[in-house]
Amino acid sequence: MNELVLTLPDDWHVHLRDAALLHETVAATARSFGRAIVMPNLVPPVREAADAQAYRQRILAAVPKGSGFTPLMTLYLTDQTTPQTIRDAHAAGVTAVKLYPAGATTHSDLAVTRIEHLWPVCEMLAELGMPLLVHGEVTDGDIDIFDREAVFIERHLQPLVARFPTLKLVLEHITTAQAVAFVTASGPNVAATLTPQHLLMNRNDMLVGGIRPHNYCLPVLKRRTHQLALQQAAISGNPKFFLGTDSAPHLQERKESACGCAGCYSAPAAIELYAQIFDELGALDKLEGFASHFGADFYGLPRNQARIRLCRETWQLPEKLALLGGRTLIPFWAGQPLHWRLAGILP
Ligand code: DOR
Ligand code: ZN
Repeated sequence: MNELVLTLPDDWHVHLRDAALLHETVAATARSFGRAIVMPNLVPPVREAADAQAYRQRILAAVPKGSGFTPLMTLYLTDQTTPQTIRDAHAAGVTAVKLYPAGATTHSDLAVTRIEHLWPVCEMLAELGMPLLVHGEVTDGDIDIFDREAVFIERHLQPLVARFPTLKLVLEHITTAQAVAFVTASGPNVAATLTPQHLLMNRNDMLVGGIRPHNYCLPVLKRRTHQLALQQAAISGNPKFFLGTDSAPHLQERKESACGCAGCYSAPAAIELYAQIFDELGALDKLEGFASHFGADFYGLPRNQARIRLCRETWQLPEKLALLGGRTLIPFWAGQPLHWRLAGILP
């Protein structure tokens, strides 16, 4: 098979950032996705309906001419978020809310210190049918970084799902066999996103032969057995597992630093990276469900009408992307071969 035509996919987890970066990130995501769930971890974060509406306008202003790209907005939960905040956000067209445990990742210092603070908010989310998107890692200093997701599931997620059995919940960017098992065993209201980096790599790809800061993200890459479990989930055809890139750019100087930032900027070749791994696993026939159907179905949104065409072709991304002011981004997978290439969006 040398050509693939798919329903236009959506990205159910992306960091578009803000200001000058929007021209880069929005174009890169709009290139192959119809819609994207836009993460709210700006500085300051997107905490209220009005913040989300203003951010949506800034994103729309950066959408390339002729693209029908639609950003789907989220709120950043804090200890101060109230059920009324959620009601107002829902009325204003905000799609979902994001739970970061405080200190778990980039710009999460203002986030939730105790999940129990969120019980009233969860009740309102369940009532409205609005999804709770979860960064599933504990932040306790005594828990090893490679165990943070598994411990979060045990300590926090199982009790949360038991308490709110109808709440729509997406465990974002899962990295472990425990997360796959938890999502598989839960009801149809519990789903997960999978990133290209966690499907294509394991922790050896970050640490063997020298430390590779562009492969560092959170939750951190795990050992190969976990990577294999994620791959099996992605190609299983189970609609609980769908595409979410977690594309998260940081300037080159912030990645290549004594204390480097977490995040892989995968948007420039996102759909090609997924096609590559599905192809390697002999499961190209499962790509369309994962990339273009299951996420929309879970969110209760219509599937896209347009389609994309991908061609089998070996190519490489540029080593660096130049931004205004002489700053640079290094795209994820730069310098490595890609075996599929987006040929275009078909109406
Ligand atoms: O690697 C990551 N980068 N993981 C996250 O959870 C956040 C993201 C970011 O915003 O940089
Ligand atoms: Zn993220």
